[in-house]
Amino acid sequence: MGQKGREIVEIDVNEVIKDLNSAYADEWLAHYQYFLYAQVIDGIDAETLKNKLEEQSNDELNHAKELIKRIRELGGEPSTNLMDVSTCGFSEPPADTSDLVSIVELVLKGERCAIEKYNNLAKKYHMKDLVTHEIFEELLEDEVSDEEDWENFLPGLKQKQSRQQQSAELTTTTIR
Ligand SMILES: [Fe+2]
Ligand SMILES: [Fe+2]
Repeated sequence: MGQKGREIVEIDVNEVIKDLNSAYADEWLAHYQYFLYAQVIDGIDAETLKNKLEEQSNDELNHAKELIKRIRELGGEPSTNLMDVSTCGFSEPPADTSDLVSIVELVLKGERCAIEKYNNLAKKYHMKDLVTHEIFEELLEDEVSDEEDWENFLPGLKQKQSRQQQSAELTTTTIR
């Protein structure tokens, strides 16, 4: 980044890079988490959810790209110890990979962690480093709409899963 570009940042640049790297790690882990979920889920409704997870996974990768751009602009290096610097971390898929409701609940957990983090970071950089502030604000907006989208998706999925359970129970009783 140019001289003036550095001068206008009113927070220690190393601290800005550290915050950006922590968010960068979160995004990579979210990207990987959703990618992994999309590969391992099974069951009758898995296909729709698989596509949705892959789409979400790509969005998180694009967030990681935005963060890396700013890290480089500030003269920093992107962290490679993702687990060490991430605060939102990574959630293993549930043991039962056909439990799609749990999968969506884990996605929501991740999105909510991101919302809280970007909300804090956007506030922290407000009036201190406007460029970084804007990045965090944009990411916050994205995560807020992600959460809403997944929240809206969940009830329909729950209904389908309970209907399937009922008909499975019915079949076993009939067979008996
Ligand atoms: Fe994200
Ligand atoms: Fe997200």
